[in-house]
Amino acid sequence: MSRLTGFCRPFFLPGILLSIFLGINSAHGSRPSTEIREQPSVKNSSNKVMWNAVPVPEQAPCNRSGMADLPGVRLWYSDTGGDGPTVVLSHAHSGSADFWGYQQPVLTKAGYRVITYSRRGHGKSERGNETDFGFADVDLHNLVVTFLGVDKFHLVGVAAGGGIAIDYALSHPERLISLTIASSLIDVIDPEYVKLLSNLHRKDLTRNIPNFYIELSASYRAGNPSERRRGLSWRKLVMSGDVQNLGKISQRHTNKIIWKAVDSIKVPTLLMTGDADSYVPPSLLRLQASHMKHAEVLIISEAGHAPNWEQPEAFNSAVLKFFQKQDGTTGGQSTTSPANKNIVTLSAFAD
Ligand SMILES: *[C@@H]1O[C@H](CO)[C@@H](O)[C@H](O)[C@H]1NC(C)=O
Ligand SMILES: *[C@@H]1O[C@H](CO)[C@@H](O)[C@H](O)[C@H]1NC(C)=O
Ligand SMILES: *[C@@H]1O[C@H](CO)[C@@H](O)[C@H](O)[C@H]1NC(C)=O
Repeated sequence: MSRLTGFCRPFFLPGILLSIFLGINSAHGSRPSTEIREQPSVKNSSNKVMWNAVPVPEQAPCNRSGMADLPGVRLWYSDTGGDGPTVVLSHAHSGSADFWGYQQPVLTKAGYRVITYSRRGHGKSERGNETDFGFADVDLHNLVVTFLGVDKFHLVGVAAGGGIAIDYALSHPERLISLTIASSLIDVIDPEYVKLLSNLHRKDLTRNIPNFYIELSASYRAGNPSERRRGLSWRKLVMSGDVQNLGKISQRHTNKIIWKAVDSIKVPTLLMTGDADSYVPPSLLRLQASHMKHAEVLIISEAGHAPNWEQPEAFNSAVLKFFQKQDGTTGGQSTTSPANKNIVTLSAFAD
C-alpha cells in the first residue's frame, strides 16, 4: 500500500493478546512466561471453548493521523483515506479512538475509508477551554467535514458516542449516508424517559462498582482472564481515555433531544444493543425503536454496553451488511421498509 503516507499510532494490544491465546512470545519480546499462559477460561466438559476471546487485529495503516487543529481545540484522529465510502466512529464515554480496535481494520479491509477520533479530554485529545467545553457535534463536524474534507459519511456511535451521533443527525442530516446507534441512552430528555433511566441506573447503588463490571457482560468477564490482570485489554484500553487524570469531559448537545426530534430523523438507521447491557437493555431498545420506525433493530446476544468490543464479529457483520444496503444510494432518505417489528437477535454462538 505505497499510496499510504503515514501510519496510525502503534496499537499495543495485538501482540499481547495473541501471546495470551497462542501461548507464544509477542513481537515485543521479553514478557515473563507467567504472563502468557492464561487461556480463555470458559470451556465445556469436552474442553471446547464456550467463549471465544477474539484477539484485536492489527490496525490498518492510516493515510493521515495526528492532532487536528480545530476551532478551540486540538483533537487526535486517524484516517485510513482512500476512495471508498467514509465511516466515522464515535466512541463511548469510557473510551477514545482506540475503542475501535476491532472495527478499524475490518471496515478498512471491506473498502471503507475509516475515521476514528478522540473527543475532548479523551485519549490524546486536548481538553480545550476548561470553562466551556463546547458542543461535541460541532467538534465532529469541524473535524470530519471542514478539516478532513469529507462530504457524506456513515456515522457510528456507541453509548455516549450514540447521543452525539443523534445530535449530529439532527444538525446535519444532509451529511449522513446512514446512522448506527449501539448501546446508547441517546440522551433524550423527555421527563418520562429521564425518570425511567433514573430507575434503571441508581447512582446510590452503582457508585462503588468498577465500570468494567457494569459495562461488560458477565460472559465476557468469565471468558477473559486478562481483564483481571493489571492493566491489560478493555480496562486499560478503554478506561485509559483520560490520560491526564483530570476527568473526562461531557460536552453539550446542540439540539434539544426530545422524542419529537428523534421521531423526525429520516436518515437510514441501524439501532442495536447487547442483551446483557445494563444501561440499554432490550426493553429500552424497543422503546427507542418505537421512535425510529424506519430503523433496523438488532440485539446482539451475550454482549454488554460495548458490543463492538465484546462481540466484534457480530457487530462488524451487522454494520457492514447495513452499510452495503445504503451505499449506492445518495442517503438522506430511508431505503429500508420498517423492519422494526422483526427485532432480530444476533447470536455469535448459534450453530
Ligand atoms: C461442547 O461444545 C461443543 C461446541 O459447541 C459441542 O459440539 C459439544 O457437544 C459440547 N460438549 C458437550 C459435552 O456438551
Ligand atoms: C492522503 O491525504 C492527503 C492529504 O494529506 C490527500 O491529498 C490524499 O488524497 C490522501 N490519500 C488517500 C489515498 O486518501
Ligand atoms: C473560555 O470560555 C469562556 C466562557 O465561554 C470565555 O469567557 C473565555 O473567554 C474562554 N477562554 C478562552 C481562552 O477562549
